[in-house]
Amino acid sequence: MTEGYNAIASVYDKFNAEIDYKKWADFIEAVFDRHLEKRPELVLDLACGTGRMTRELSRRGYDMIGVDGSEQMLSVACDGNYDEDLNKIYEILYLLQDMRSFELYGTVGAVVCCLDSVNYLTEDGDLEKTFRTVHNYLDPDGLFLFDVNSPYKFREIYGYNSYILEDEIDGCSVYCGWQNSFDEKTGICDFYLTLFSENEDGTYSRCEEEQREKMYTLEELKGALETCGFEFIGAYSGYGFEAVDEKTERYYIAARAKK
Ligand SMILES: C[S@@+](CC[C@H](N)C(=O)[O-])C[C@H]1O[C@@H](n2cnc3c(N)ncnc32)[C@H](O)[C@@H]1O
Repeated sequence: MTEGYNAIASVYDKFNAEIDYKKWADFIEAVFDRHLEKRPELVLDLACGTGRMTRELSRRGYDMIGVDGSEQMLSVACDGNYDEDLNKIYEILYLLQDMRSFELYGTVGAVVCCLDSVNYLTEDGDLEKTFRTVHNYLDPDGLFLFDVNSPYKFREIYGYNSYILEDEIDGCSVYCGWQNSFDEKTGICDFYLTLFSENEDGTYSRCEEEQREKMYTLEELKGALETCGFEFIGAYSGYGFEAVDEKTERYYIAARAKK
């Protein structure tokens, strides 16, 4: 299924620990309040990865489905199904499926798709296939909320830059070398990741991973949404519904399924 998250799945949450899914979920609920007559009962977290948003929304009382194309990411999500603090088991249905062609048992009130998962749609027609499938499984007037890395981020932050991330998991060091290669003509950004994980005996294991994202402009996203039966509601630069500008790094987009 989805490549690029094999070795990285086990360290993914550690390297993304700074993302505040509580605040993000507050924003999602604020969009629900503004644009839905009643709170949705069933919500799909598309490309749910390790399930951090899926669990956050489940804690808030939504029935959750998580779809992802990576067995390794879903395996981490399932490992997190028991919440020690709450002493409860999450009742989340996880499905290993492709976001361009997933199938559900029925429709849902809202679909969320977080942390630039839409940028992983890199082939011609992928965006439309995904948006059509999402539309197909949304209730009439149901909401689709997703975010993308902006063109500013691809050009000015990813570009050809390299980074080294460093952390510790269970007392063992983990280093991730991350090198970018962005092509302005195609809008494709390739990420070359090299992971060094310390073993218990002090030796290191090395893994290579490649990921690819595609840049989308707001106009392209709006056009694809409208072609696929959505009404574009808005694009924001933050959880407070702030307007986007030329230096916005992430667009948070809300759309409604017209049926
Ligand atoms: C950056 S991660 C985001 C994960 C999660 N939404 C989060 O907030 O952490 C992108 C996710 O998209 C998934 N993905 C990429 N392409 C996919 C596809 N075609 N179908 C389903 N999942 C896909 C990957 O497996 C990965 O879990």
